[in-house]
Amino acid sequence: MAENPAYPVGLRLTGRKVVVLGGGQVAQRRLPALIAAGADILLVSPEATPSVEAMADAGEITWHRRPYAEGDLADAWYALIATGDTEANTRASAEAERHRVWCVRSDDADAATAWTPATGHSEGVTVAVLTTEARGRDPRHTAAIRDAVVEGLRDGTLVAPHHRTRTPGVALVGGGPGDPDLITVRGRRLLAEADVVIADRLGPRDLLAELPPHVEVIDAAKIPYGRFMAQEAINNALIEHAKQGKSVVRLKGGDPYVFGRGMEELNALAEAGIPCTVVPGISSSISVPGAAGIPVTHRGVAHEFTVVSGHVAPDDERSLVDWASLAKLTGTLVILMGVDKIGKIAETLVAHGKPADTPVALVQEGTTAAQRRVDATLATVGETVRTQEVKPPAVIVIGEVVGVGPRTSA
Ligand SMILES: C[S@@+](CC[C@H](N)C(=O)[O-])C[C@H]1O[C@@H](n2cnc3c(N)ncnc32)[C@H](O)[C@@H]1O
Repeated sequence: MAENPAYPVGLRLTGRKVVVLGGGQVAQRRLPALIAAGADILLVSPEATPSVEAMADAGEITWHRRPYAEGDLADAWYALIATGDTEANTRASAEAERHRVWCVRSDDADAATAWTPATGHSEGVTVAVLTTEARGRDPRHTAAIRDAVVEGLRDGTLVAPHHRTRTPGVALVGGGPGDPDLITVRGRRLLAEADVVIADRLGPRDLLAELPPHVEVIDAAKIPYGRFMAQEAINNALIEHAKQGKSVVRLKGGDPYVFGRGMEELNALAEAGIPCTVVPGISSSISVPGAAGIPVTHRGVAHEFTVVSGHVAPDDERSLVDWASLAKLTGTLVILMGVDKIGKIAETLVAHGKPADTPVALVQEGTTAAQRRVDATLATVGETVRTQEVKPPAVIVIGEVVGVGPRTSA
């Protein structure tokens, strides 16, 4: 006889008692979602994994350290039966049946009155996948379907238009250092939903090629600025497109707030009354050294790292950097926008006491196919940049961390 399919439903468990029998791997996997659902959770189990124990210690669940006993399920709304003792599981599910408590059984799907779907979340939607019949259950297949749907929604390859009006406005999206895989899930989704994208030269430019043809892609460097400063012209372009009711993404390299002028754009939008959301990005200051095999901190070597802009020379009156103090630090110095001035910067650091043989690495176009690492010391870096023709964009790392890795990933 054909089996009836399970009836899918979303349980609203806030403040409602849920009993979990067994504190092993199954409980460890299922408890976080039950906690997130706000359930009042009672765990009954003589033992628990360290993670489950931590949930009890944190007060997220109540733990009775004993085996299951008749009556445990009496006033529960829902039960997860997952002890290692089949006989106890059978007694518990019989009790659940008597009390009309929906119950999941980890050891016997046929004997359960409820099944846990493979679930995933994407921006306010829960995707839950169930197989139709107990006998046909193939958890890997349901998990694969869940993954395909959630991933597709996240990266925009599965397009599910919102039918509620989208809030027009601007998203300042940190795109990461350049590798298209290094943008955040949220950034990628907003990009997939955009009507207009205003992009910097740095960042994941490959993603722009994937946008549908109706999306207007504007190169920020090419916005004409005539009587305005370039930044003002970009701000105006953001404001104008948003005022037309469009969803605008300002795609920036790295993180919007690390030498990214993100706050200037946010302030301009706020002044114009345009809603703006900021999506953090992976900054090149950490990820580019990492991609070249250099950790910005290392136990016993560097307990701090300082990220500095090198776009003006140390003797330039516009400089806000205290190079004399930086020379005294023992940790790592990470310099962005410093290729042109690194000779002067190195001289200044040495003049203020930093050893001339301090290792330096320059990582050009990090995380892209063109990534290149060039090593030097403070004494040689000015010359090395010239002879090796190091060009921006590059991240410069100064400090002993340059030498701690195996040099295979560069
Ligand atoms: C205007 S700053 C923007 C930094 C960006 N907001 C961030 O968080 O990475 C530009 C500088 O970042 C560095 N940079 C950004 N992406 C890079 C990459 N893929 N490789 C090397 N350096 C990079 C270079 O020093 C470049 O001159």
